[in-house]
Amino acid sequence: MNVVILAAGMGKRMQSALPKVLHPLAGKPLLQHVIDTARSLQPSKLCVIYGHGGAAVPEMVGKLAEATGTRIDTALQQPQLGTGHAVMQAVPQLDDSVPTLVLYGDVPLTTVDTLRRLVEVAGSDKLAILTVEQANPFGLGRIVRENGQIRRIVEEKDASAEERAIREINSGILVIPTKRLKGWLESLSNNNAQGEYYLTDIVAKAVAEGVPVVSSQPSAEWEVAGVNSKVQLAELERRHQLNIANTLLEKGVTLMDPARIDVRGELVCGRDVVIDVGCVFEGRVELADGVTVGPNCVLVNAKVGAGANIKPFCHIEDAVVGDKSQIGPYARLRPGTQLGEDVHVGNFVEIKNSTVAAHSKANHLAYVGDATVGSRVNIGAGTITCNYDGANKFRTVIEDDAFIGSDSQLVAPVTVGAGATLGAGTTLTKDAPAGKLTISRPKQITIEGWKRPVKVKK
Ligand code: UD1
Ligand code: CA
Repeated sequence: MNVVILAAGMGKRMQSALPKVLHPLAGKPLLQHVIDTARSLQPSKLCVIYGHGGAAVPEMVGKLAEATGTRIDTALQQPQLGTGHAVMQAVPQLDDSVPTLVLYGDVPLTTVDTLRRLVEVAGSDKLAILTVEQANPFGLGRIVRENGQIRRIVEEKDASAEERAIREINSGILVIPTKRLKGWLESLSNNNAQGEYYLTDIVAKAVAEGVPVVSSQPSAEWEVAGVNSKVQLAELERRHQLNIANTLLEKGVTLMDPARIDVRGELVCGRDVVIDVGCVFEGRVELADGVTVGPNCVLVNAKVGAGANIKPFCHIEDAVVGDKSQIGPYARLRPGTQLGEDVHVGNFVEIKNSTVAAHSKANHLAYVGDATVGSRVNIGAGTITCNYDGANKFRTVIEDDAFIGSDSQLVAPVTVGAGATLGAGTTLTKDAPAGKLTISRPKQITIEGWKRPVKVKK
């Protein structure tokens, strides 16, 4: 099958410099949703028609083609003279021996199942239209039937009052026998209310030539909903998020409120996962069995081990959390963080590009960067690894069973040996030997007879 995706329109009502089809839904451009759906139909040709927004659309398509190893052609439509004119731009790319499916780049949520059904009813010789009955069909093309048979499509602006009363509308998604399509496109005229070349005019041509015209319907209206404004984008975002939440619930995930979770990527959950309100998941996030995520956490490309508890207000990105670990509240795990089993990371602790082995703890107010931390290490409040001299980064190594006293600075590169203790307030600039107490602190003195200054009374 050939797939043509129309994405040349301007999207004026978005009130944005970004081309409409590049606006994100669930963190992914609208057009990418459509391309991903099209790809799962394994088309032999895939062509995106672009126009408005200059190079941004073909650039995004090029990147996606490269990342997925798929061939995706693009064709420029300039100026934009209507949907029929848009499809004309793809004609040289289309293989006559298979049907052509037309999709819109601004209709992101059509399911693969719905498209498969449409392709099935079309077979190799019929024209098939995805139609839907809408309570408010205003602005859309109406399906004109006689004795139940589709005769043509009439656009709102060309329709009679009687035709405007029809509630069955054209979603715009069609499957067309390709050889016929090419002929019909050649004979299109723009003699209509909008002076456009309507793709929809091919329906009457098919009927005139005795080509059967059939239809099928999506499982829900949102499958054919397009985005023309930020209001519609926001509505579809909510719809999509609710669909994702329902899928999670069906798989047994507990969501404290299915209306208050956002998944902008792929969220994979084990059994008995509980997610509280206000959490955002981006990229690929894996939560193993029994993980709980407290309110208002953001997890990006993260893997959380079984039984771990992510307390409220944590930010975790490109990080791995070990089984049974306790994270937060208010913890930040930055890229390259790998925590072993039963690691405790408390409030206002930031960890970056570091490994922390099993049973170690950093419970309050610490920065651990470019560090290798062993097992059963205790990192006291206020500890900082000084990993950066303004130009270069250095590693800190803290071996098993070390105890880092509060408010210590570890000036990397430096190693704290196994079982070593650092006294509170130590500025460590040389390695601390294993098993011993190391402390760098001026001796405490008390000045006898010292008096606190007092304000002179005027
Ligand atoms: C079109 C259909 C209408 C249908 C409606 C569904 C025609 C003539 N009408 O309406 O029957 O109910 O979609 O939303 O086909 N586009 C281009 N180049 C153009 C014009 C449009 O690429 O020259 C793209 C747009 O970017 C958009 C899609 O085609 O993705 C539909 O265009 P739009 O103007 O929104 O639809 P209408 O023509 O109003
Ligand atoms: Ca539209």
